[in-house]
Amino acid sequence: MTVILGIETSCDETSAAVVADGREIRSNVVSSQIELHAPYGGVFPEVASRAHIERISPVTNQALCEAGVTLGEIDAIAVTRGPGLAGSLVVGVNMAKGLALGCGIPLVAVNHLEGHIYSLWLAGPEYRFVPGGSAPDPAAPPTPIEFPVVLLVVSGGHTELLLMTAHGHYQRLGGTWDDAAGEAFDKVGRLLRLPYPGGPSIQKAAESGNPRAFDFPRARLRSDSGEDNYDFSFSGLKTAVLRTLQGQYPGLKSDDPLPPDAPVTDLAASFQTALVDVLVEKTTRAALEHGAKEVFIAGGVSANSALRAGMIQRVGLPVRVPPLALCTDNAAMIAGAGYYRWMAGQRDTLDFDVLPSWPLA
Ligand code: KG4
Ligand code: ZN
Repeated sequence: MTVILGIETSCDETSAAVVADGREIRSNVVSSQIELHAPYGGVFPEVASRAHIERISPVTNQALCEAGVTLGEIDAIAVTRGPGLAGSLVVGVNMAKGLALGCGIPLVAVNHLEGHIYSLWLAGPEYRFVPGGSAPDPAAPPTPIEFPVVLLVVSGGHTELLLMTAHGHYQRLGGTWDDAAGEAFDKVGRLLRLPYPGGPSIQKAAESGNPRAFDFPRARLRSDSGEDNYDFSFSGLKTAVLRTLQGQYPGLKSDDPLPPDAPVTDLAASFQTALVDVLVEKTTRAALEHGAKEVFIAGGVSANSALRAGMIQRVGLPVRVPPLALCTDNAAMIAGAGYYRWMAGQRDTLDFDVLPSWPLA
C-alpha cells in the first residue's frame, strides 16, 4: 500500500488530503476562502496567499489526524507546482518542501490540471454513465478505465480539450482563446448581480428560467483553412449578455442594482445553455474523431448539472464525472495524480520553483 499526502494551494482553496494507492481517500480537508474573496467578486491574489499561510499547517494536521496516520507512515508528498497564482502556489510548495526535508519524505510535484483529471480515478462506479443506460449502480464492480479518453477540463482558470492515451500522456486538442468557462460563469454572475462564485449561482437561477428566452451566440471557431477546430471562445457570449441588459435598461451602470423585473433567470438559463452546447458539441466531435473509448469531464465547471446531463445525453460513449466534492479544487485529486507519477518513478528535489503557467500537454 502506498500512502500519499497531497497538498493543494493553487488558487483560493487551502487543502490537504491522504490517499492510498491513488484511489482510496482517507481524508480530504478543504478550507475554502470564498467568503474572503466574495466582496471583490473574484480571487484577490494577495488575500489568497496570506490566507493560505494561516491555514496550511492546521489543514495539513487535520488531514493527517482524520486519516489516522503519522508523517512517518507517508510514502510521498504530492504538491501542486502549477498552474495557478504564484503567491498561492509557493505556500503549498514550501509546506511540502519543509515536511519533505524535516521528515525525509520524497516529494512529487504535480500539475493542477492533471490533478483535476485524476479526480476521475477517485470516483466510484456510480459516476460512470453509459449511453441510454439507467442510473449507474454504486454496488457494481468498478469498470477499468480504457484509453484513449477524451477529457474536458473546465475550471475558473482553464478550458482544455485533451486526448489521454495512457497515464501521464496527453495531447492537447484545443482550449479557450479568451475567458475560461468558469471565468465566463463568474463574469456573467457579476453582470446578473448573483452571489460569487457565479457558476453555482447561475446554475441555481437557471433552474427556474427559460433556456430559449434569449438566443445567445455559440462561437464556432474555425482554423485558417475553414475547418472546425477544438478551440473555444466565451467572451462574445458574456458581451451578448451585457448588451442584452444594456438594451433593456439603457444607462444602467455596472454597480447599479438590476431593476426588479430584470429577466435574471431567463438570462442565466439562456447563457448556461449556449455555453454548455458548445462544450458538449466540441467534446462529442473530438471523441468521435479520435476514437475515444470514454469521455471524462473535470474541474469546477464539471459540477454543473446542465453540462453533466448534456454530455451524458449527447456524447454516445460512457461518460465519467467526478463526485461533486472533487470537482472544485482539493488535495485528494493532487494525491491521486501524485500516486501515478510516483509509480512511474518521478521524484523531485528541493530546488524546484512554482510554475504559474504550466501547460499539461
Ligand atoms: O476547479 P476550480 O475550483 O478552480 C480552478 O482551478 O479554477 O473551479 C472554480 C470554478 C469557478 O469559476 C466556479 O464558478 C465554477 O468553477 N463552478 C461552476 C459550478 N461550480 C463551480 N460552474 C458552473 N456550474 C457549477 N455548478
Ligand atoms: Zn482547479
